[in-house]
Amino acid sequence: MNIALLGSGRGSNAEAILETQRAGKLGRARVVSIFCDMPGARILELGERFGVPAFSPEVGPFKTKFPPEIETKWAEEIRDCGADFIVLAGFMRVIKRPLLDAFAGRIINLHPSLLPAFPGLDGIGQAWRYGVKVSGCTVHYVDATVDGGAIIDQAVVRREDADTEESFAEKIHSAEHRLLPEVIRRLSER
Ligand code: GAR
Repeated sequence: MNIALLGSGRGSNAEAILETQRAGKLGRARVVSIFCDMPGARILELGERFGVPAFSPEVGPFKTKFPPEIETKWAEEIRDCGADFIVLAGFMRVIKRPLLDAFAGRIINLHPSLLPAFPGLDGIGQAWRYGVKVSGCTVHYVDATVDGGAIIDQAVVRREDADTEESFAEKIHSAEHRLLPEVIRRLSER
């Protein structure tokens, strides 16, 4: 399973995946490239640190989606790097037909809530403001809906009375850093 990691920002989940790979615990999966839609984002620095090619191709005029012709180019570039599987690790753009068709059933996403609760932007803040006592994170297949594809696995995080929004977010991120590499390992060994 040759993975392209797609991210937009900090890249802490990409880092967790690459650390797991370095420790020899990513099963038969291998990260072959990193793609980022935000030039200068920290995730791009991981390329050099882990010896993985990292790219920031043209994205077009929109913030949350690609124009179809640009998304087609992304699909080609991702393929050209040898990837046959895509992991969205903090990728903040909606994926549409060009990528979905090119990698049918082979794109997974990480979301910071227990879907179907709190889809879309700021899943952690939404859960915090609602006042739920348990939340967590979800890894799911990507389809044409937003955060609505088949769920692969989830991890639960409890909100304690002493939590602040920051400590709650930190617990969810830690859960993500464990869940996503573990799901990738499992999928690679099917
Ligand atoms: C993660 O919490 C991930 O669940 C979230 O962005 C963060 C990326 O952090 N993704 C979404 O909200 C997707 N809708 P990272 O860049 O440090 O991995």
